[in-house]
Amino acid sequence: KSLKPYNTFSISVDANYFAEILSEQDLKDVLKSELIKQQNLLVLGGGSNVLFTKDFNGLVVKISIPGISSVEEGDDIIVTAGAGVVWNDLVKYCVLNGFAGIENLSLIPGTVGASPIQNIGAYGVELKDVFKSCVAYEITTSEKRIFNFEDCHFGYRDSVFKNELKGQYIITSVSFRLTKSAKINTQYGAIQEELNRKGIAVPTIADISNVVSEIRVAKLPDPSTIGNAGSFFKNPVITWVEFEKVKSEHPNVVHYPAPDGKIKLAAGWLIEQCGFKGIVVGQTGTWKNQALVLVNHGAATGTEVYSFSEQIINDVNAKFGVQLEREVNIL
Ligand code: FAD
Ligand code: EPU
Repeated sequence: KSLKPYNTFSISVDANYFAEILSEQDLKDVLKSELIKQQNLLVLGGGSNVLFTKDFNGLVVKISIPGISSVEEGDDIIVTAGAGVVWNDLVKYCVLNGFAGIENLSLIPGTVGASPIQNIGAYGVELKDVFKSCVAYEITTSEKRIFNFEDCHFGYRDSVFKNELKGQYIITSVSFRLTKSAKINTQYGAIQEELNRKGIAVPTIADISNVVSEIRVAKLPDPSTIGNAGSFFKNPVITWVEFEKVKSEHPNVVHYPAPDGKIKLAAGWLIEQCGFKGIVVGQTGTWKNQALVLVNHGAATGTEVYSFSEQIINDVNAKFGVQLEREVNIL
């Protein structure tokens, strides 16, 4: 089965076996099957955070479990969505119903089920700010387990599902704690600038959703026309001592405060300073408006993109002494 339609990088690779899961029962059946015991397993949502470097030798399970429901809990509203719900469809549903909390996360590609894996984040909000719990099945035992906030060990682009429990659970639904009395979050400079430009003094969550969507469309390539997986690297988080060293040689380095007294550097800036912004290297390169995004100009192979990312890591390290870490899952 060709996986090209199932990864936003649009890399042409094949998988030996492919199953689409439409319900919890489907998943239980697959987990009980002989095939899953014999084959390597890859769980896929929207394929918007993966880079295939070779054919997948095994079974791909695409999670398409639908459904959105909500219940009131005092001033809060608990919204639960199936893992296969398209993330932005959930955002639209919440904005339409006046459920506040995820409007800053508008237009992030992918599925609800993948949202806790790397604790998706954008424009001043992270999934962990609204996460209540998720339901997941352990692959080896088929046992159902509920993960509460404390169980997930969320960090910047990080969770228990990328570490201790990597590859062990399949998420089937996620519950979010949202509110009906909106706390508008405009801390991200670009949002406030755009609201000012539009003359919106008292924004609604729909305004925030629109503005964030517009900023994203202007900055990021649309995977339906140019293959990509968003930011290819994480923004590096370094200590004060390391930061002082970088700053002494590069006084303009773009940086933000991070938890525990650390400093987060803008990887896009580091990459641009190395001369990579908008360059085309064979069938790959970086996006013209955002150097942190690697792209497929049509016929790139995963190894071509991967080698290019290696070159970026080496050049950034040589110039700044900072090690970039990939955000995208390499397969
Ligand atoms: P996939 O790529 O299918 O899978 C990602 C990982 O999660 C894999 O390891 C997979 O095995 C695992 N997984 C998927 N579903 C499940 C499940 N149900 N149970 C267990 N494991 C699962 N990310 C951000 O955080 N912020 C952004 O602003 C952002 N912008 C982006 C912009 C663009 C244009 C693109 C292409 C990507 C962007 N991303 C961003 C990255 C991506 O959208 C997120 O990582 C998203 O959560 C991936 O969802 P997915 O369903 O496509 O996951
Ligand atoms: N910058 C440059 N050159 C570039 C790109 C960025 O100099 O080519 C500098 C600019 O100073 C800019 C700053 O970096 O102001 C920050 O850029 P941007 O606002 O685009 O955000 P980012 O740090 O590059 C992160 C996330 C994005 C998320 C945005 C908005 C990571 C790895 N990436 O990007 O997430 O949408 O913030 O919150 O944290 C993703 O994960 O796939 C993703 C797109």
